[in-house]
Amino acid sequence: MSAEFQAWMKGVQSEIEIALKNFLPSAEQSPQQLHTLHEAMAYAVLDGGKRVRPLLVYAAGTLFDAPTELLSRAACALEMIHAYSLVHDDMPCMDDDALRRGKPTVHKKYGEANALLVGDALQAQAFLTLAEASTQSDNHRAMLALLAHASGSLGMCGGQAIDLASVGVALTRSQLEQMHQLKTGALLRASILLGAMSGKTLSSEENAALDAYAQAVGLAFQVVDDVLDATADSATLGKTAGKDAADHKPTYVSLLGLEASRALAEQLRQNAHQALDIFGVSAHYLRDLADLIVQRKA
Ligand code: IPE
Ligand code: IPE
Ligand code: MG
Ligand code: MG
Ligand code: MG
Repeated sequence: MSAEFQAWMKGVQSEIEIALKNFLPSAEQSPQQLHTLHEAMAYAVLDGGKRVRPLLVYAAGTLFDAPTELLSRAACALEMIHAYSLVHDDMPCMDDDALRRGKPTVHKKYGEANALLVGDALQAQAFLTLAEASTQSDNHRAMLALLAHASGSLGMCGGQAIDLASVGVALTRSQLEQMHQLKTGALLRASILLGAMSGKTLSSEENAALDAYAQAVGLAFQVVDDVLDATADSATLGKTAGKDAADHKPTYVSLLGLEASRALAEQLRQNAHQALDIFGVSAHYLRDLADLIVQRKA
């Protein structure tokens, strides 16, 4: 990973931290009764996480000279939806996890009712953040629709529903791929496409290339998440390791084993690179992010 890429990544991550703070409701301004909800929303979103979705938004946006305000709003909207999905994913009715991003999970710290509301409110705040962009872009409405589709029952929520229905079930490889593409791939794909659409209306060739890249990194991300769950420790991950096997979740590790899962992630990394060929050297941040997603240790 080049020093230039690392510096770019740090820059985006700190910009996103500031922007997220600005787009979240401030605890001080709200009526007293809402302080806990707003504090818990900030707890779920700020100061943690790798910010992979915002990085994908910025990397795709850079390719098409997207204006900063729209990019920043799209990136924050994606991160808010993602953070909400984690809050709900950790609740006792789903994965029942106590540790997230190196801290107690939201329901452990603020109680289950607050965790439910944090997720609900973050989802609304995400759409508000993107809707309030001062853009003249013809793509704005399509961007909102894409985010809704990626988040809903035919996207992330649908993937989570399949995940919960699949505990103790031996899925076929294509069923497992579909589950991963929905629960994780959908928001990663939306990040890439929203970043690009912030810059311009994509030609069908550009759209197909970005989609192929998104399919590869979206699946690779969850394959690596499965591998890390089985191989890394909780301190490194900032979340409970070994949870998938303990909970009898179908994963790439349970289906293919560790070595074949790692080989698949590497194959997907190469597919992601190939998909970017039509963009030439200017897609270098997207290439570096594919490497990061596959080679990460947490
Ligand atoms: C974890 O996502 C949940 C999955 C979709 C696999 P990340 O690994 O991106 O979590 P953070 O944002 O860095 O905490
Ligand atoms: C979570 O998948 C996917 C979403 C939150 C949509 P996991 O349940 O594998 O995520 P972790 O491992 O708890 O982060
Ligand atoms: Mg889960
Ligand atoms: Mg989980
Ligand atoms: Mg996992």
